[in-house]
Amino acid sequence: MSKKIRLALIGAGGISAVHAKGILAHQDKVECVALCDVSDENLEARSLQLGQAPARFHDWKKMLAEFGDRIDAVDICLPHHLHAPAIFDAVAAGKHILCEKPMCIDLEEADRIVEAVKRAGITYMSAHNQLFKPAVREAKHLLEEGALGQVYWIRCQDCFAAPQGAIRGQWRSHSKLQGGGELIDTGYHPTYRLLYLAGAAVEEVRGTMGRFSIEMEGEDTAAVQVRFANGIMGEILTSWAFPQPYGTHDIHVVGERGELFGSGNRLWHLPRGFEKPSERTLKEVDEFAEEIGHFADAILKGTRPIHSAEEGREVLRVILQAAQNSDGWQKAAATPSHHSEL
Ligand SMILES: NC(=O)c1ccc[n+]([C@@H]2O[C@H](COP(=O)([O-])OP(=O)(O)OC[C@H]3O[C@@H](n4cnc5c(N)ncnc54)[C@H](O)[C@@H]3O)[C@@H](O)[C@H]2O)c1
Repeated sequence: MSKKIRLALIGAGGISAVHAKGILAHQDKVECVALCDVSDENLEARSLQLGQAPARFHDWKKMLAEFGDRIDAVDICLPHHLHAPAIFDAVAAGKHILCEKPMCIDLEEADRIVEAVKRAGITYMSAHNQLFKPAVREAKHLLEEGALGQVYWIRCQDCFAAPQGAIRGQWRSHSKLQGGGELIDTGYHPTYRLLYLAGAAVEEVRGTMGRFSIEMEGEDTAAVQVRFANGIMGEILTSWAFPQPYGTHDIHVVGERGELFGSGNRLWHLPRGFEKPSERTLKEVDEFAEEIGHFADAILKGTRPIHSAEEGREVLRVILQAAQNSDGWQKAAATPSHHSEL
């Protein structure tokens, strides 16, 4: 392994721009040597942003076959239905993998990915960028220190009014390509945050879903309840139909000795018996740059990433189970009534 990770970015669309920013933030450890996308326009934009003159490809199979000896790792930023095919090809070529969420869209595929990664002995990191949010990190640290004693209940959420035009007619509006609806997309973030903070096996999952304002085949809003083996009650609220409801936070944890709640780089701690919480403003970070740096370090030092294929599979299992245990929602779902560009 050379000292710098030679990375190929597969998928040069929307999210790859912040991955590229993360790569540029770690030029001592990682260099983008190749780009792959079916769109020349996106290849050009990413190439200009990176300024590292990466080789360009339209087909990742061709890239791995012809240029594979100059690539150590791939960063997959493709539409959801293409994650598994790209992962299997990268594993077969012996490349380390960072893959955007969801790992894939089918549990049987996820099991095969976990097995293939283990067999190949490569580093696989699930790109769960919000684990690097300061409030999430600090809350996890405080929970591990026992600041709340026994934890009773955790809620994680991610809600915003999505621009209609970003979804209508795009791959995200088709359940077969997206693997479901909003829950397997933006809802992936609060799900892995919840599993991370609870730190226990999932025993039971139930979901309620609706579609209110976005033209898409799947749900645009989901509420999920999770019971963990350690007794913790978990809740997920996620939506593209409405913004974060007033007065709520990305994470909220209640335990026997008090509460922790916060978003971004702000975390409040309200010990039981006190009226006012203490507020902490934590150092701001670029969570995508943290993610890329963490991935590079995991490869260079041979350490396990914060979330690997096993965690990616478990997040997917919870999401698919929530969808399965919410039959009938489509009949009851409201018909989108306004289609303005938000
Ligand atoms: N972590 C986050 O906060 C976050 C935010 C947005 C998206 N994402 C994830 O990033 C991934 C990509 O989403 P996006 O919003 O960037 O989508 P996008 O549509 O903007 O980009 C996808 C890119 O893949 C390319 N592509 C499609 N088919 C291809 C093929 N066969 N071979 C090569 N390239 C192909 C498209 O041309 C496009 O450039 C998804 O998994 C999504 O869930 C994560």
